Amino acid sequence: MQLKGKGVVIFGGRTGLLGQALTRAFRLAGARPVPLSSQDCDILDPRSVELLLDRRDPDLIVNAAAYTQVDLAEEQEEMAFALNATAPPLLASLAAKRLVPFVHFSTDFVFRGTKRTPYQPYDEPDPFSVYGISKADGERGLLRFGYERTLIIRTSWLFGPGKMNFVENILTLCETRNTLTVVNDQMGSPAYTPDVAAYTLALLARDETGIHHLANSGEATWHALATQAVTLAGLDCHVEPVPTSAYPTKAVRPAYSVLDLSRFIQATGVTPRHWQQALADYVLGDLKRGSVI
Ligand SMILES: NC(=O)c1ccc[n+]([C@@H]2O[C@H](COP(=O)([O-])OP(=O)(O)OC[C@H]3O[C@@H](n4cnc5c(N)ncnc54)[C@H](OP(=O)(O)O)[C@@H]3O)[C@@H](O)[C@H]2O)c1
Repeated sequence: MQLKGKGVVIFGGRTGLLGQALTRAFRLAGARPVPLSSQDCDILDPRSVELLLDRRDPDLIVNAAAYTQVDLAEEQEEMAFALNATAPPLLASLAAKRLVPFVHFSTDFVFRGTKRTPYQPYDEPDPFSVYGISKADGERGLLRFGYERTLIIRTSWLFGPGKMNFVENILTLCETRNTLTVVNDQMGSPAYTPDVAAYTLALLARDETGIHHLANSGEATWHALATQAVTLAGLDCHVEPVPTSAYPTKAVRPAYSVLDLSRFIQATGVTPRHWQQALADYVLGDLKRGSVI
């Protein structure tokens, strides 16, 4: 679709880590984004979503809202499922009613991590955390509903401006500590939110639907990502590699969740830049401007 002048309702677009980057990208493309938080419109309240859509009459609906607290989800199962599993098909049904495309975001955590080669969009989800199961249920609900103008984008390991994230957290901790321990036996695909947003628009420009994987190129462990961020920031802090067993968390994370990006590359002709390049932009650009470092 051509985005210039188009109204885009973005759930999560005002306060979400990815949503804020999407809002900027749509604005840059000449669209008219309507960024929302839970205060503006609660996606658990179908009536208020319908009223909002009637008022805004968007040309595109984007769902970047979710329950994203991976460990807390183990205790707040009901809330995680309401937001991640029940709400997405409801939003898709409202998009279908209005005959406008629907974009939904999902996660690498729908995979268990038993593979040792990158996960393809058609690999069967097999999560074991509540968060992962709820997100996989959301995907399944959308596929079952079957609205043909639905684009599901699985992304992973997000960092970017506008909200606290793993990279900013590491750099903030390094200001008060000489040593940090970070796990080095989980491998994934780091993704810079402005890049994921730009690549999302590239998919929309080609009217892509179905499931796509989006991240930066390359793979990393959390330890490698943290080390690279600390080096770029020029901080005097030692990042010690530790196994997952030394850092127990409520939710079990996949040991390997690298995303295969070839469907996106084939569809758009765009090869995502390497995460190290994107990280340099984030650490030396966004964070420096915001004087986090
Ligand atoms: N962060 C990651 O590393 C990561 C990795 C892979 C995939 N993803 C996926 O990417 C998407 C975006 O994640 P994110 O990290 O950007 O999320 P986030 O920063 O946690 O933002 C979540 C957004 O959802 C909104 N929201 C929560 N409950 C709502 C409700 N009841 N009604 C309306 N809006 C509500 C929040 O609004 P309030 O601020 O008002 O609460 C916020 O804007 C999600 O689908 C997530 O599963 C994220």
